[in-house]
Amino acid sequence: MYTSRIKGIGHYVPDNVVTNKDLEAFMDTSDEWIQERTGIKERRWIDPTTGDMPSTMGTKAAKIAIENAGLTPNDIDFIVFATLSPDYYFPGPGVQVQDQLGIKEIGALDVRNQCSGFIYGLSVADQFIKTGMYKNILVIGSEYHSGGLEKSTRGRGVTVIFGDGAGAVVLSRSEDEKKGILTTHLHSEGKHAKELALIGPATNRWVDQIMTENDPEDTSYYPYMNGNFVFKHAVTRFSEVIYEALMTNGYKPEDINMLIPHQANLRISQFIQKQLKLGDDQVYNNIMRYGNTTAASIPIALSEAHQKGKIKEGDLVCMAAFGSGFTWASALIRW
Ligand code: UT7
Repeated sequence: MYTSRIKGIGHYVPDNVVTNKDLEAFMDTSDEWIQERTGIKERRWIDPTTGDMPSTMGTKAAKIAIENAGLTPNDIDFIVFATLSPDYYFPGPGVQVQDQLGIKEIGALDVRNQCSGFIYGLSVADQFIKTGMYKNILVIGSEYHSGGLEKSTRGRGVTVIFGDGAGAVVLSRSEDEKKGILTTHLHSEGKHAKELALIGPATNRWVDQIMTENDPEDTSYYPYMNGNFVFKHAVTRFSEVIYEALMTNGYKPEDINMLIPHQANLRISQFIQKQLKLGDDQVYNNIMRYGNTTAASIPIALSEAHQKGKIKEGDLVCMAAFGSGFTWASALIRW
């Protein structure tokens, strides 16, 4: 019986720092509002002259993760790439990573589960390893939000929140039954799909339709979020799915050494921390510096927490996410 362990981790964020103050130049907002409601102080937005894209950022993070695992790119058997902001409408960026790594023609799968995308991807990779099909799988979360945000007062409810970046892990086969991914838990509730969505361009709203209508009020090609509604569901689902992971494995909240919540809003993370009665050293947050990077947020946070020595061999690590779909998910790992 195989288990799967995170053998290497890496992250990459663009150099360009955008502070809350910088946003005041093109929308009616304030550092005070953004910090009070979200905890965000600054985020990274790609400078388009650098050529950074979701695939290239993902590849940069992947190379660090592969090196951190003590492997070479040719040791990778399969790629899982989670993003809501692919370089192209199709194909997804997984195949671009295969090319950018310059490796053999391995399989590449793209995951479209937004904020839960990384955990969904990790769950898929976990199954491939546990069945014995693959040995080393790259799981990447990468997002380029800034190019598609409405940078005006009309879009401020969404625009101030999102940032760009990428994180990656190498999930590898292990024969140590006591360590590795214990369980993953995946959920969806599609009736709320439109509460956090980008409706077009897509098959239900093609570009030529948007162009023909040329309606200045049309915001369907910008992300939309019903903030309060999403917030209320998030706090409930985060807790539920963390408890589900703990109870399945016979643990209690106090057994968690490190919780890595998807970085949606610092108030959400603090609410969950309080509900689970966790100490500050049991939860890792970095939304202050990166904003919400959707599928990239968990691997970036995991990578930073690991780099800082906050995750040690034998620790019980929990990851949890909630977002567009709605989808929500958790993973419990004995490190
Ligand atoms: O990652 C996926 C999951 N995402 C989440 O879980 C996010 C969940 N939601 C949230 O984090 C919060 O709902 C937001 C941060 C998006 C918004 O915070 P809020 O406390 O729910 O604010 P609100 O939407 O109720 O807006 C309050 C006021 C409104 O003005 P009025 O109507 O009270 O006059 C907004 O127009 O704040 C206004 N507002 C802003 N003001 C300054 C909205 N955005 C901004 C802004 N700057 N950027």
